[in-house]
Amino acid sequence: MRQINVSIPGRAYDIFIQPGLLNDTGAQMRALLPHIAKVLLVTDSNVAPLYAQRVEKSLTDQCFAVKTAVIAAGERSKNAGELLRLWNEAAAFGMNRTDAVVALGGGVVGDLAGFAAATFLRGVPYIQIPTTLLAQVDSSVGGKVAIDLPAGKNLAGAFWQPKLVLIDPDTLKTLPDDVFSDGMAEVIKYGCIRSEGFFRFLEACGDRKSIMEHIGHVLHTCCAIKAEIVEEDEWDTGMRMLLNFGHTLGHAYEAAYHYTTYTHGQAVAAGMVDACRIGERLGKTAEGTTEQVSQLCAAFGLPTHIDCSKEDYASAIGVDKKGTGDSIRLIVLSEIGASQAVQMEKSALLELV
Ligand SMILES: NC(=O)c1ccc[n+]([C@@H]2O[C@H](COP(=O)([O-])OP(=O)(O)OC[C@H]3O[C@@H](n4cnc5c(N)ncnc54)[C@H](O)[C@@H]3O)[C@@H](O)[C@H]2O)c1
Ligand SMILES: [Zn+2]
Repeated sequence: MRQINVSIPGRAYDIFIQPGLLNDTGAQMRALLPHIAKVLLVTDSNVAPLYAQRVEKSLTDQCFAVKTAVIAAGERSKNAGELLRLWNEAAAFGMNRTDAVVALGGGVVGDLAGFAAATFLRGVPYIQIPTTLLAQVDSSVGGKVAIDLPAGKNLAGAFWQPKLVLIDPDTLKTLPDDVFSDGMAEVIKYGCIRSEGFFRFLEACGDRKSIMEHIGHVLHTCCAIKAEIVEEDEWDTGMRMLLNFGHTLGHAYEAAYHYTTYTHGQAVAAGMVDACRIGERLGKTAEGTTEQVSQLCAAFGLPTHIDCSKEDYASAIGVDKKGTGDSIRLIVLSEIGASQAVQMEKSALLELV
């Protein structure tokens, strides 16, 4: 069993990574949270038929009373209506503050169920069981939970750390290729911002099959990097912004195509390549970095360029959550494995894209 402790004072928790761990959900939770009686298990319509029964059985074997709430798969479920439905389900189930929510699914389930847990009865414990690559390396760790509003993604949310993250890499076997690639963008991001050695390892792997042969190492490395950054900056006021590498322009692509044509990971991949290109032009990024990031993204089926009009860039940068006044912080690489924030005028960035 691989284990990473996220050492946030007063809110520390473990991430466990182990094939077959789904079957141990109940035992892991019982060991950590002996007083919990009821579990609201939140999952989605794709994940439920694959994995919900095993998790339910594992929980009931440990004498938890379980109620399962299934949301429709997809980003569109990350909304206020579904949040209200989960609150009502929790209330009808008679949950109290010592009961728990379990999120079994990708980032959509994790963000929605996590926000329900953060707000029901002013906060109940929750456990993340991420089942997509993106959720296993990114969204299940760090405590950011949210729903989307018509005005934009993740606009209502909270910081609410889970009590435990249980990662069963076997669940990745059922992921469609495009969803797997999507998660690879975030995996590559960790190498870019923090570890040249990991970046070279990913280059050597080169495809999904090889990544899966080393999945324990991949998940452990990514979660350890994320945990380290979150420990330093739980509330996202400094260091955590490095995780936004590729996301400033990535968000522009997602928005320009109305969140339909390109997935988050595809947009981030193109955004990482852009950030390197801009960094090289500014003299902040070692020459040749763009080419290396571009090749690695391409190896995993990710786009390295997305067309976008100046107007779409402008509107995306105007509402970017990192934007302060008329300037913006762009995350660039000094070289593979080392990143920094560069403050620049939004107008200057627009000239460079
Ligand atoms: N909280 C954070 O820090 C954070 C970070 C990054 C992203 N996010 C959020 O995460 C969401 C994206 O997450 P995602 O990419 O996991 O999307 P997702 O939850 O929509 O999952 C993608 C698809 O895979 C399916 N699926 C999930 N697990 C499966 C499995 N094991 N086998 C087969 N199919 C499976 C889902 O049903 C869905 O259709 C976005 O809403 C984004 O805002 C949050
Ligand atoms: Zn992302």
